[in-house]
Amino acid sequence: MSCALSQPTLGGQILRFTARGLFLTGGVLLFVLALTWLLYVIFIDSAGEPMNQLGNEGTDAADITSLYNVVFWMAGAVFFAIMAITLVFSIMFRERPGREALQIHGNSRLEIMWTLIPVIIVAAIAIPSFEVIAARTGDAPDDALQVIATGHQWWFEFEYPEYGLVTANELYVPADRPVEVLLHSEDVIHSFWVPRLAGKVDMVPGHENRLFFTPTVVQEEAYYAQCAEFCGLSHANMRFRVFVREQADFDQWVQAQLADAAEPAEGLVAEGAQIFATSACVGCHTIRGTAAQAQVGPDLTHVGSRTTLASAMMANTPENMARWLLDPPAVKPGSKMPDLDLTDDQVAKLVAYLESLE
Ligand code: CUA
Repeated sequence: MSCALSQPTLGGQILRFTARGLFLTGGVLLFVLALTWLLYVIFIDSAGEPMNQLGNEGTDAADITSLYNVVFWMAGAVFFAIMAITLVFSIMFRERPGREALQIHGNSRLEIMWTLIPVIIVAAIAIPSFEVIAARTGDAPDDALQVIATGHQWWFEFEYPEYGLVTANELYVPADRPVEVLLHSEDVIHSFWVPRLAGKVDMVPGHENRLFFTPTVVQEEAYYAQCAEFCGLSHANMRFRVFVREQADFDQWVQAQLADAAEPAEGLVAEGAQIFATSACVGCHTIRGTAAQAQVGPDLTHVGSRTTLASAMMANTPENMARWLLDPPAVKPGSKMPDLDLTDDQVAKLVAYLESLE
């Protein structure tokens, strides 16, 4: 292949790059700069949103934000440079009447340059990345609270070995104590991500990953969390909530969760308990203190105490609970919980029972 890049041609082209060209180039550069800036403003502006990891003030994980900023600005610089160069060259060397567009083939110097520059950039990003990954996934401090988090299609199970407690979809942790999360999966690859606290680390079947973080900001509202690895039809509906509590409030929560399910009172609640015990529900769920001891779906011993339903898809209200029980796959596509053909009357009783399990 011949080299079409000859000095007179290129020099000539650049010389002919007149005031009009300069004006166009300036406009293009301004446009790309504005675009880069706009992207950054959007990121920063939404830092307070529940799913924005730039707002991770709730933990000791400032190192993740610093790394994010380094990568963002390096990527921003590359984006700006590539866009600007592409646009400027498109204008400078375009085809015009009486002149062909300039094409360059087989220039070794250029090729070495555009191979070396990305290698240097990737190496520069790799060093701080490995440092942060090693710091976040290495050995947790000895006093860490261990939580085994298991991903299922499409919900999260949380086990506290220290207390012999199992719950689902809502993770409670005490403030100012490191939390070590041991990540497992029951079926396919999921990922544990609490943007403002920790993550994201994959949950891989047959392999244990781990991460740790120390939550520092107690807040009434939940920290939002989401599976971050495509895991099938309802991946987007595989969410969870994290609550950071003062130690005393956390201890109180643990004690409440350790208790067996409340005895069903009279009326609707008792009738609901009867329906639960004699239907397909017991084939998949546990309600401690009753005969229901299966472990296919979430533990429902204290389902009434949760703020959300169906893996944090919706608020835990009697209306939503009824909608869910009537036809789970209609609410959550692909749901492993089938439509049990319950009547409205049965659903009303089950809702009364399940909501009583606080
Ligand atoms: Cu689990 Cu995506």
